[in-house]
Amino acid sequence: MNEVSKQSQWKTSTGFILASAGSAIGLGAMWKFPYMAGVYGGGAFLLMFLVFTIFIGLPLLIMEFTIGKLGRTYTTAIFGKLSGKKWTNIIGWSGNLAVFVLFGFYSVVGGWIIIYIAQVAMQLVGLGSGTLGSIHFDQVISNPVYTIIGQGIFILITMVIVMLGVEHGLEKASKVMMPLLFVFLILIVIKSLSLDGAAEGVRFILEPRMEDLSMQGVLFALGQSFFALSLGTTGMITYASYAPKEMTIKTSALSIVIMNIIVSLLAGLAIFPAINAFGYKPEEGPGLLFKVLPRVFEQMSFGAGFYLIFLILFLFAALTSSISLLELNVSIFTKNDNRKRTKVAVIGSVLVFLISIPATLSFSSLSGIHFGAGSIFDNMDFLVSNILMPLGAFATTLFVGQLLKMKDLEKVFGRDRLKLFVPWYYLVKYVLPVVILLVFVMQLFK
Ligand code: PFF
Repeated sequence: MNEVSKQSQWKTSTGFILASAGSAIGLGAMWKFPYMAGVYGGGAFLLMFLVFTIFIGLPLLIMEFTIGKLGRTYTTAIFGKLSGKKWTNIIGWSGNLAVFVLFGFYSVVGGWIIIYIAQVAMQLVGLGSGTLGSIHFDQVISNPVYTIIGQGIFILITMVIVMLGVEHGLEKASKVMMPLLFVFLILIVIKSLSLDGAAEGVRFILEPRMEDLSMQGVLFALGQSFFALSLGTTGMITYASYAPKEMTIKTSALSIVIMNIIVSLLAGLAIFPAINAFGYKPEEGPGLLFKVLPRVFEQMSFGAGFYLIFLILFLFAALTSSISLLELNVSIFTKNDNRKRTKVAVIGSVLVFLISIPATLSFSSLSGIHFGAGSIFDNMDFLVSNILMPLGAFATTLFVGQLLKMKDLEKVFGRDRLKLFVPWYYLVKYVLPVVILLVFVMQLFK
């Protein structure tokens, strides 16, 4: 079994943090968080999301980083390598199935961003008609041809980057693009807060009215914290296996969690204060961000230009996540042998494209199909965020708690003044499996 090859390591700790923050921060924090919070109880959802992210997500992220750093190979071999029990690699396979399906519906939303970029760019150069506010989300997503082309382009860009193995080249771009995205989010928040009815929106997202929280909301909040931190898919294990030896697990995990929370909060504060002014409702669903933000930008001078820049930054954030999704699937078949990279990336992307078609069509020609969690798109999301991710994380806590030696883990975890290793270890070994299982089982009786 190959160790991770030298060239596929991130060169510096900062490079590793940027890459894993890039994988984590994407559509989850910016698109999915406001959409979920809008449907499942606003402030109460936010509170549950924060509790889960801090008390479950953070220790789990540390756990995944620890496994990656300890095992240093691809995820369908790492579990067997560390425990000596080959069957445990099933956790890696299940994680890979999760990211494969995840990429399938992720690319649908990536495709929407691309269509919006095309439309706004055309308006700017005078080729398109209307204004920002006249771009109708429902019309955009109900056009099967455009949406399939959009997601195809999204998958194609991801594929080319992974194929060339130039993810590391993105480190430099991330250093500029991510802070810029942050600045744009703050700008939107400021503008939204100045609109009519803003206070009501702020109250909606910040005030925890527990009576608005359903059991389903609790489950979705757990799913959201897993989704936003890329947990339970072994994605973070893969990235940590590429990390330089000196990377610090706890600081990296903590900074990613903090950034993720801030971006989710900013996205919420950008959208909810603006919904009243334009007559939208919090429960708009997956289209929430795409409906509200153009209207906010329309209120600014040079709004279309700024919106275009924002969309490009948003696309960049989505791409740094989709790259990690494809990379994960590619790494288990190249087995760290970079000569196979092109072929595997192409085959993987074509397969993802095929499964993403029904997801995209669930907003148009297949919109009549409803079962389980809703449309085909909803079911793919539910399968990943609410079933495979929690189950993957649950299995990984059992793996770490029952099969790995405490002293090996401690070496990688590193010493610290607060002596956090022992509480972390027992949390992962005894508390988290029970909590995840409880929340998970509760959904069966909802
Ligand atoms: N965390 C990413 C987001 O919020 O957009 C999605 C994701 C990426 C999940 C990579 C899982 C993963 F392995």
